Parts: sequence; C-alpha cells; structure tokens
Amino acid sequence: MSEADSTPHSTPQPEAEIHLQSLLVNQAQRAALMGQKPCVIWITGLSGAGKSTLANLLEARLIADGRHTYLIDGDNLRYRLNRDLGFSDRDRAENIRRAAEVARLMVDAGLIVLVALISPLQVDRQLAREVLGYDDFIEVFVNVPLEVAEARDPKGLYKKARSGEIKHFTGIDSPYEAPLHPDLVVDAHHELPDVGVRAVLDLLLQRGLLDAR
Ligand code: ADX
Repeated sequence: MSEADSTPHSTPQPEAEIHLQSLLVNQAQRAALMGQKPCVIWITGLSGAGKSTLANLLEARLIADGRHTYLIDGDNLRYRLNRDLGFSDRDRAENIRRAAEVARLMVDAGLIVLVALISPLQVDRQLAREVLGYDDFIEVFVNVPLEVAEARDPKGLYKKARSGEIKHFTGIDSPYEAPLHPDLVVDAHHELPDVGVRAVLDLLLQRGLLDAR
C-alpha cells in the first residue's frame, strides 16, 4: 500500500473507473411500502444541550405511531464507523460528511432518519444539507446557553476541558456556530423535552412529511 493509500479519508477513487449502477427498485417504492415520506431531522447543539434526549424521545414517538426510523447518534457513530476520527475541524467535517452520507442511504431506504451531532460549523451543516437535498432536510437547533450545558456536564467532559485534560472541546476551546436559519429552534433550557418533540412533529406535519395518525 502506498503512503497516499494509507492516509485516512484522503484517497478519492478515480471517477473514470467508477460507474453508478442503476437499481431496479427505487426510493419511492421502498417508502411506499412503509407508507411514509423519508426525511432527515438533523439535530445540532452543544454537548449536553439535550440533542440525544430529544432524538430518542422523538424516535420512540415516531415508532409508537408506526413509522420506520433510524437514529444516528454522534457518540455511537464515533464508536465504530468513525472511530478513526478526532475533534479537529477537519475530522469533524469528515465525521459530519460520513453521517450525512449514511443518512442519505437510509433516506434512500425509505426511513425517517434522525441525526444527533454537535455539527458545530455552519459550513459542515450546509454540506450535509446539500448531500441530503433541501426539501427533506429539517435542521433543528437544540438551544441552551453554554453555562447551562456546562453546569449539566452529564459526561464530565466540560470539567476535563476546563482543566485542559481534553482539547478542542466545543464551546470551550473549539467554536460552536449557532444556525442562522434553522427550521426549528428547541429551547432545551426552559422547556421540557416533550415540548421539543411536539414542535418537531408539528413541523413535519406542516411540511407534509408526516400524515396525521
Ligand atoms: S461533532 O462535532 O463531530 O459533530 P459529535 O456529535 O460526533 O461531534 O461527537 C460529540 C461527542 O463526543 C460529545 O457528545 C462528547 O461526548 C464527545 N466528545 C469527546 N471529545 C469532544 C470534544 N473535544 N468536543 C466535543 N465533543 C467531544
């Protein structure tokens, strides 16, 4: 293996040698079988904001209503598929790109896909939106002040970041850019998670992505 080949995530395939296979079954057929419109609900926010809480409750609710879903959670993705990635801007960009591509496959499979990733930079979230297409990409900003997320510190990571034990921690020594035009802002400071779940469901109904059940 050449040095270039062994460099992680930097070996593009020669496009001339790759030919897209046309498939007999398409997304519309898969989705029709499930009786739903596939889409992606992309949940962004600081560590400790409540993204996973919202995503889990939302998925449980969708499943209870008979929808077919999948939840892609940042921590879980990093545990396996993205285990080679750290927290530099470059690695986060690749983390988000892969998550968006996996979500794209799942949308193609007909699923309603929830993605819970810090995804701190505008440019990376924009790229995810482009990978997934504008109509079916719902950006949800789980908003809490940094002080609140830090006081919660569910994994003890803010404490470690403040003491310098971990570097490039979002909100401490790595930036978080709040979305400028999210489809929905969930106030995870003053409101209970159920309020956020209801707001996402209402938005999906409004956009025609869910039928009333
Ligand atoms: S992202 O920035 O690339 O979107 P992602 O959502 O996948 O991040 O992973 C964030 C999770 O990794 C956090 O919930 C936290 O548990 C853990 N983590 C470990 N180190 C860091 C760090 N330096 N910055 C942010 N999160 C970190």
